[in-house]
Amino acid sequence: MSRVGVLISGRGTNLQALIDAEKHGNLAGSIVLVISNKNEAQGLLRARNAGIDTRTVLNSKYPAREEHEREIIQILREHDVDLVVLAGYMRILSDIFLKEFENKIINIHPSLLPSFKGINAQGQAVEHGVRYSGCTTHFVNADMDDGPIILQAVVPVNFNDTSESLADKILKEEHRILVESVNLFCQDRLEIRDRKVIIREG
Ligand code: GRF
Repeated sequence: MSRVGVLISGRGTNLQALIDAEKHGNLAGSIVLVISNKNEAQGLLRARNAGIDTRTVLNSKYPAREEHEREIIQILREHDVDLVVLAGYMRILSDIFLKEFENKIINIHPSLLPSFKGINAQGQAVEHGVRYSGCTTHFVNADMDDGPIILQAVVPVNFNDTSESLADKILKEEHRILVESVNLFCQDRLEIRDRKVIIREG
């Protein structure tokens, strides 16, 4: 069974979706570790409540990005992690990390990429007046919110939607496609060809 490490910075509802899926026997992998780069991350509590090993590697303790990443890599290696999931992890990863876990890092982003990369993607979508937004899971490459797309889900945007109301609608879909993406990875059904991801029959 694939060993999954999850990186978080905040409230951790996507992490919770993975924890719940595992609890109900619906995850093809096992969450062995949660690392936060913020002390106060609510997601740490969620992990501890589920009996998952947690670590905090503060940005402030390692201002140099590479040192920070080396520390995280070492902890992930100690836990023999096969897949790294970025579930609301708010620090860009450098080449060191990407090389160490090449094609083994999945990110969830709250827009239909390549539209609305970066922070407050839901607010960007509302501002732009798009009729549809959604969320995307993708493998992580050197550019932000850019790697090969695994799954997407579409969410309609209404005239009255705010950044917050759209975020709530998108979040439900995030939880679903993140679990599904982790399952596809753990079942060895994802194949990357250039920038496309082929999903093999199960
Ligand atoms: C999600 O919207 C995710 O797409 C983005 O950050 C948010 C994290 O939410 N990358 P949570 O911490 O999983 O609740």
